[in-house]
Amino acid sequence: MRTLFYFCAMINKEKPIGLFDSGVGGTTIWKEIVELLPYENTLFLADNKNAPYGGKTKEEIIFLCEKNTEFLLEKEVKIIVVACNTGTTNAISHLRTKYKEIPFIGIEPAIKPAGLQSVTKKVGVLATKGTLSSELFMKTSNNLIKNEGIQIVERVGEGLVSLIESGKIESPEMFELLKEYLLPMVEENIDYLVLGCTHYPYLLPQIQKIIPENIKVIDSGYAVAKQTKNVLSQNNLLNDFQNKPHHIWLSNGDLSILQQFAPDIDNLKLQKI
Ligand code: DGL
Repeated sequence: MRTLFYFCAMINKEKPIGLFDSGVGGTTIWKEIVELLPYENTLFLADNKNAPYGGKTKEEIIFLCEKNTEFLLEKEVKIIVVACNTGTTNAISHLRTKYKEIPFIGIEPAIKPAGLQSVTKKVGVLATKGTLSSELFMKTSNNLIKNEGIQIVERVGEGLVSLIESGKIESPEMFELLKEYLLPMVEENIDYLVLGCTHYPYLLPQIQKIIPENIKVIDSGYAVAKQTKNVLSQNNLLNDFQNKPHHIWLSNGDLSILQQFAPDIDNLKLQKI
């Protein structure tokens, strides 16, 4: 009996960590997770066909997040990381209620740590419309405003995800949009800029050309990886050692987009679904 218990526990530990996003943004979270948890197998689903999620209604976002969750459950993942701020802020409580059999990790814009460290008490946040208009985001931001006296300077990053998804990170169009969104925040005297979308860390080189050096740019990627580790450990699901874990990235859209963000390692396979 005891041997059977240990055998089952071992099998569960070897199941992959499942992640999903509307597109390539989730790979920024995948990279943090693989760095912190080098022995884990992973399975990442990019729903490129339906990207961007940011302008969709809450109901549409919930529908797509359910579809992604069911896909990953079929693949027998051991935990699901919603590697998407828009998905998390609109759908995570629904997912946790509906799929009680699996733990979920979500990602939200890091306005709280930014607000607590801000000297000017002004924090900029660039995120999708879906994230900024969600109840979850509004609750966190209202608490910061009321309890800590922080001013949140919000801006919807309209168009940024579509440009990233079409391989136009370094285009003049991208640079102009970023200037339009970020310069008013600089004028407001923010000292922290929160990247509230998992696609945006790929824009860091462009962002740094626009904002002054004294503005710190933060995202929630490392915090999500740490939380994933904690929850796996609490559930006795950490894969303690594996010589060469395997990683799979799946896309229902153009695989060549995902390919551009893939590290050159032989234990990562990309597949079209
Ligand atoms: N990367 C996602 C996020 O963090 C989704 C962006 C989108 O699809 O609009 O919000």
